[in-house]
Amino acid sequence: MKKDVIAIATYKYFSGLEGNQHIASEFALKKLNEIIHNFKVKSILELGLGIGSISYSVLEFSSKINNPVKYIGTESNDFCLSVLPNYLKLHFNKIRIFEKLDDVPATQKFDLVIIDGKEENLIKLKNLMSEKGIIVIEGDRLPQLEMIKEIFTKSLYTRVVSNYRSPNYGPFPSNDWCGGIQLVFINPDWQQKMSFIKYKIYTAINYRLRTVN
Ligand SMILES: C[S@@+](CC[C@H](N)C(=O)[O-])C[C@H]1O[C@@H](n2cnc3c(N)ncnc32)[C@H](O)[C@@H]1O
Repeated sequence: MKKDVIAIATYKYFSGLEGNQHIASEFALKKLNEIIHNFKVKSILELGLGIGSISYSVLEFSSKINNPVKYIGTESNDFCLSVLPNYLKLHFNKIRIFEKLDDVPATQKFDLVIIDGKEENLIKLKNLMSEKGIIVIEGDRLPQLEMIKEIFTKSLYTRVVSNYRSPNYGPFPSNDWCGGIQLVFINPDWQQKMSFIKYKIYTAINYRLRTVN
């Protein structure tokens, strides 16, 4: 499966780079590619580009499957901003970068918003999402999740977790679980409701498997 192959190759690539301590989990990279493919995502806003593991994986995947996406990201950390051009290589020019969410033009609408940074005021997202938009929060980030649920009152939310441990070629301890994401459908249609149920069952099974592994 191309989406997993690209996620794994990206994770290995970023694991070898300086500043790798906050990259996305390999599991999150795989699930993001799956979501982009399944929901035909065309426009993405990532809050917290960091050193670029998510944006690289997504742009690599979307170029391989011939599905160009519009990609906007926020970042304010000087180290991250200085390494992004080198680390993202040819993909760097495909991303428009703003310092913070407040600076993103309010005329944009995004199919997918990825939250992986410290943005505290997310209310602006209310006007930046496509009608059937999806929000993915990398890791736990519970205060941001609560804010999202308050802003999008019709949303459906589920955790999606791995049932395997972090690979030993990455920066995270290989006895830790390989991460998880919080998945939010802000105004779900029929296809999204079906996926929501599928992910809920998948996660319940994975939590059960975690107790025996
Ligand atoms: C979890 S990280 C974001 C990771 C990013 N989405 C990626 O794919 O690599 C959250 C924030 O931590 C900060 N950060 C990440 N890596 C850093 C580093 N090596 N040095 C300093 N700050 C860093 C950045 O401000 C970033 O937005």
